[in-house]
Amino acid sequence: MRTYGCQMNVYDSARMADVLGPLGYAAVDTPEAADMVLINTCHIREHASAKTFSELGRLKQIKQQKDGDYIIAVAGCVAQAEGEEILARAPYVDIVLGPQTYHRLPEMVARAERGAAQKKLRADIGLNKPAARIAGMGILDTDFPVEAKFDFLPAPTDAQGVTAFLSIQEGCDKFCTFCVVPYTRGAEYSRPVQQIVTEAEQLVALGVRELTLLGQNVNAYHGDGPDGDAWTLAQLAYRLAAIPGLERLRYTTSHPRDMDDALIAAHGDLPQLMPFLHLPVQSGSDTILAAMNRQHSADHYRRIIDKLRAARPDLCLSTDLIVGFPGESDADFAATMQLVRDVTFPAAFSFKYSGRPGTPAATMAGQVPEDVKDARLAELNALLLEQLTAFNRSLVGQTVPVLFEKAGRHAGQMVGRSPYLQPVHVLGEADLIGRVRLVDIEQDHSFSLSGRLVAEPVPDLSSPAMRMTA
Ligand code: 5AD
Ligand code: SF4
Repeated sequence: MRTYGCQMNVYDSARMADVLGPLGYAAVDTPEAADMVLINTCHIREHASAKTFSELGRLKQIKQQKDGDYIIAVAGCVAQAEGEEILARAPYVDIVLGPQTYHRLPEMVARAERGAAQKKLRADIGLNKPAARIAGMGILDTDFPVEAKFDFLPAPTDAQGVTAFLSIQEGCDKFCTFCVVPYTRGAEYSRPVQQIVTEAEQLVALGVRELTLLGQNVNAYHGDGPDGDAWTLAQLAYRLAAIPGLERLRYTTSHPRDMDDALIAAHGDLPQLMPFLHLPVQSGSDTILAAMNRQHSADHYRRIIDKLRAARPDLCLSTDLIVGFPGESDADFAATMQLVRDVTFPAAFSFKYSGRPGTPAATMAGQVPEDVKDARLAELNALLLEQLTAFNRSLVGQTVPVLFEKAGRHAGQMVGRSPYLQPVHVLGEADLIGRVRLVDIEQDHSFSLSGRLVAEPVPDLSSPAMRMTA
């Protein structure tokens, strides 16, 4: 299984592995060692999308070497957007499935296996020309079925570690003019509260201590609550924070328009909600924000940040930024640079605008030349790197809580993450895994930090609480 794109795809791949396990499939390290290859694709920018076809070219060769005895499945957003084209351009692909149909994967695999077996039999008895053996059955399932796939997925059986993703919302109704998501992932859908709570409890029972709630527009969450009302993300966060053993909660990706006061207040109330929020702004220019159909101004965004920081003063923000959107002038770009300085994002994903077929912006006037986009991206990235370096440096000398995840590369070293997702290295024992401990940060190494564990307080055996448990 190969996964491209966002965390939602990482989550989807894990769930597809859950449905394939009972069929006898297990992960292997290389496509050569596999009987079946599933690529979970991303369509967000042209570069991401193009990877699908180059990967398929490589897989075709393996399939030929294996005499056709090899199932190739293409899942995810390229499959959704270009399913027919994949089967036309790459007829050796057996299965094309969209993000909403992966609960039907076992049935598709069974059909592909049967098809391959029949073809092999025909070939063995000389009924097929060898070239025909690499042609697949071409199963295409890119519906948006009425049944929600989540109702059909098995419970997670094997959390891979201390942190996990949990998909709570999917699709998007915002229709930003540059974005394919409303077309590939479909309309907004929120999972019911109880289903999410159950999955969260199962993950915690498997050792997960930090959950990242996922959705394309996660703070537009409005799932059915146990009381019959639609619950907001804020309500869901309070409920999940009550699960014993769940130390940390994050959510991504949010839209500024859905950052309501209750959610902002939850950041002040819930210690489990990590003080690090990914809140895409895309541009600092009101003209460009309007052309993008973002439905808010740069000042509206600044006001949200002020409220969030009032609720949780140690909150840091990351964001997504697009340079070279159609019509972006030097002044518009300067406004983006100014916003980046004002909010002092310590981290951000920055992209060159990439015209996506079928989206309104792709045919807008004023497409920006590639060399201008390159220059703006370089300037923006230099500023972001400066801010990231300054932020990491500012943590040296501070004491931060770290959730430990695994052993480090060097003997005796353990690695965890700060609230701001930086890897933090300390000398320590393996029993740190799954625990949150305070660390005095001593050094910053550009993309990680290192420090020393703060000694745990000696329990006060005279206190009534300790006597009761002793
Ligand atoms: N071109 C460039 N960047 C894009 N993104 C989405 N669509 C495009 C596009 N057509 C970026 C946005 C979004 C992130 C996931 O990808 O910044 O927030
Ligand atoms: Fe795409 Fe996000 Fe805009 Fe929805 S809100 S259309 S997912 S950029």
